[in-house]
This record gives sequence, C-alpha cells and structure tokens, in this order.
Amino acid sequence: MMEQAAPTAWLWVATERVTGEEVGLVGLVTREGMPEIGSIIVSPQQGKGYAYEALACIRDEGFRHLGLAAQFGCQLPVNHRSIGLMHKLGFDQVPGHPDRIHWHLSRATWAEGLGSSVG
Ligand SMILES: CC(C)(COP(=O)(O)OP(=O)(O)OC[C@H]1O[C@@H](n2cnc3c(N)ncnc32)[C@H](O)[C@@H]1OP(=O)(O)O)[C@@H](O)C(=O)NCCC(=O)NCCS
Repeated sequence: MMEQAAPTAWLWVATERVTGEEVGLVGLVTREGMPEIGSIIVSPQQGKGYAYEALACIRDEGFRHLGLAAQFGCQLPVNHRSIGLMHKLGFDQVPGHPDRIHWHLSRATWAEGLGSSVG
C-alpha cells in the first residue's frame, strides 16, 4: 500500500526520541478513498502523550506534504481514549453513525486553526 505509485497508506514506527525505543505504529490508511488517521501505542507507553504528539505530526504532514483535501477517523463508541484523542487533534465528529464514531477534518479547517501550531 505504501509502495504503489499512488500510495494508499503512510505508516511510521513511533520511537522515543532519547532512547530510540519503539512505542507504536501510527499513520494514515485510505479506505474507500478516504485517508483515515490512526495509531496503536504499546500498553506500557500509553498515557504519556505519544499518540497525540505523533498524530499531530502526521495530520500536519498529510495536509502540508501529502496534499490531502481532508482526513478522516473511525472508531467504536466504547473507545474513550481514542475519542479524546481525536477531539484533541481538532477533528469534528460526523453525526448519523450510531455504531461507529466517524471524524472529519478538512484542509480549510486545519489551515484556519491548526496549521501553524505544530512543526
Ligand atoms: C488510543 C491510543 C492510541 C492513545 O494513545 P496514548 O499515547 O495513550 O494517548 P496520549 O497519551 O497521546 O493521549 C492523548 C489524548 O487521548 C485521550 N486519552 C488518552 N488516554 C486516555 C484515557 N485513559 N482515558 C480517556 N482519554 C484518554 C485524552 O484526550 C488525551 O489527551 P489529554 O492527555 O490531554 O487528556 C492508545 O490507547 C491505543 O493504542 N489504544 C489501542 C489502539 C486504538 O484503540 N487505536 C485507535 C483506534 S482508531
């Protein structure tokens, strides 16, 4: 998916800056034409801000360098950690999906409020 001429996934291993320890897998995966942002942080490293730090960089990379028009997200309503994370990343909840929570962030919304906040 990452090596196609037009990639449908952009994934990174997140590492701790000082030790180089691998803490998770983060990135964007396109489903039905919609690039979805997501992360998995290994259990002992959760709650330390790694997912937010990594996904804020990926969100900005997606708009600045990958040229995405919008980014999306999706998770189960019971995944409270991920829901808090998506809010903190500035995504808007899309109504009308009771079984899954869907998220959307347009390039315009990002550029207005978030584009200059993270390098
Ligand atoms: C969801 C997940 C990626 C969060 O990773 P993390 O590194 O622990 O998250 P962070 O420490 O960066 O926290 C970012 C925000 O997430 C939310 N969050 C994190 N842990 C939380 C918890 N235990 N309860 C509620 N919200 C939580 C908060 O909004 C938090 O911001 P805050 O610290 O300012 O309150 C991690 O729990 C995970 O890997 N879960 C399993 C995989 C998964 O569910 N991925 C998402 C599927 S779409």
